[in-house]
Amino acid sequence: MIDPRKLPEHVAIIMDGNGRWAKRRGMDRVRGHRVGAESVREVVRACREVGISWLTLYAFSEENWKRSKYEIRALMKLLRQFLMTELDEMLENGIRLQAIGRIRKLDAKTRETLVDVMEQTAENREMVLTLALSYGGRQELLDAFRSLALQIQQGAISPEQITEETISHSLYTPSMPDPDLLIRTSGEYRISNFLLWQIAYTEIYVTPTLWPDFRKEEFLRAIEDYGKRERRFGATSEQIEHKT
Ligand code: FPP
Repeated sequence: MIDPRKLPEHVAIIMDGNGRWAKRRGMDRVRGHRVGAESVREVVRACREVGISWLTLYAFSEENWKRSKYEIRALMKLLRQFLMTELDEMLENGIRLQAIGRIRKLDAKTRETLVDVMEQTAENREMVLTLALSYGGRQELLDAFRSLALQIQQGAISPEQITEETISHSLYTPSMPDPDLLIRTSGEYRISNFLLWQIAYTEIYVTPTLWPDFRKEEFLRAIEDYGKRERRFGATSEQIEHKT
């Protein structure tokens, strides 16, 4: 049972294992991504149903540009299809779409579709779906540090004015709360350059399930598991008990 008082506000997911899922079935990797897109639909719906306000999905990393042109093209096509077919549902359900990453590196067609859906859903207030695209955590920090260095050079701020808050606000999405729960599928215990600054105190849930098989039921299990954890943020259990 999910305890509504112990619901994470922000869930981030490293969706891994599409290639292995396809390989095990003697199929092309792209088939794995296609079935994986169905898991994305199901998980977005489940979030909306249980009342999770922020969902961030690692859809394409900076490192993924190393893949074959064929696979990259197929992933971009799947992304466009997802955006076009889900737009109505996002509008009906109050879901705002946003993207993090070096979006300018995406091809023009994909970028235009993305910007169009972001604009059409901009006023939605029930939930924020963030897609990490051409995203790298170190690159995000690098961009933030450069922007802060520039502000110092221009005399707008002094080095002492750089705080944890100013760094957080210099990231790609200044208003996004840090993730409470990070899920990784396919059993790998790695962060893979995802949200490096933001996950300092995030609870991590790793499942051996490959992403195309990760559906509503297992997502809810992860949420339930999160509800049982005690988040101490460096304090002791006793200190936490006194606070509540
Ligand atoms: C990792 O599997 C997955 C990706 C690199 C891409 C994720 C894309 C989708 C789930 C489909 C489309 C996305 C959206 C938002 C509709 P992998 O290929 O690295 O798997 P492997 O490690 O088994 O090879």
